[in-house]
Amino acid sequence: MSVIEIIKNRRATPPRLFAKKDLPNGSVEELLRSANWAPNHKKTEPWRFKVYRGEAKAKLAADARTLLLEKQKEGYPVAPEKIEKFASTIEQVPVAIAVILQPDSAGRLPEWEEIAAVSMAVQNMWLTATEMDLAAFWATPTFIELFDRLLELENNQKSLGFFYVGQVMMDFPSPGRRDWKEKIEWKD
Ligand SMILES: Cc1cc2nc3c(=O)[nH]c(=O)nc-3n(C[C@H](O)[C@H](O)[C@H](O)COP(=O)(O)O)c2cc1C
Repeated sequence: MSVIEIIKNRRATPPRLFAKKDLPNGSVEELLRSANWAPNHKKTEPWRFKVYRGEAKAKLAADARTLLLEKQKEGYPVAPEKIEKFASTIEQVPVAIAVILQPDSAGRLPEWEEIAAVSMAVQNMWLTATEMDLAAFWATPTFIELFDRLLELENNQKSLGFFYVGQVMMDFPSPGRRDWKEKIEWKD
């Protein structure tokens, strides 16, 4: 596939459509190697990933369910169905990668630049997954703001959601895009 074909074929595939099959270690490593080539300002390389599989993934799902139900009882606005959907998705996907922002310790950059760099690292993984015929999805529910302890984040780190990867069970249709020309102003 050419780069433009990979870009167009990349899909946010709902994890319920992932095949119930494991992913070889080598495939996950390939995605992470690709992430590491993302552009970044001042060479801060602000992306960090925690790869959850097997028992660690089952524990993450169970701990997330417990934490969110507790918070919900204390008044945090999250519906029990959302909690269940989130936890069961983590249980079902073969690999859940926590996407983490590691800000520059010297504070030389505005946060948006570092979020942009992490997002480019995620896009690298996503495009590489597409080329490898894998399914992927980036989930960013609001309640991940509660996950610092669960993900054992260091003080200044921030969770930017979960990137799920699996084997393609079926192709998911593209929602398409509005015309690119609507978003452009040519200045000649
Ligand atoms: C930063 C970011 C966060 C996202 N978070 C979610 C999410 O929490 N839930 C969701 O259903 N889709 C999420 N998506 C995926 C979008 O829904 C998806 O990209 C969009 O529907 C377009 O589909 P496509 O990527 O297959 O072209 C996210 C995408 C990005 C870039």
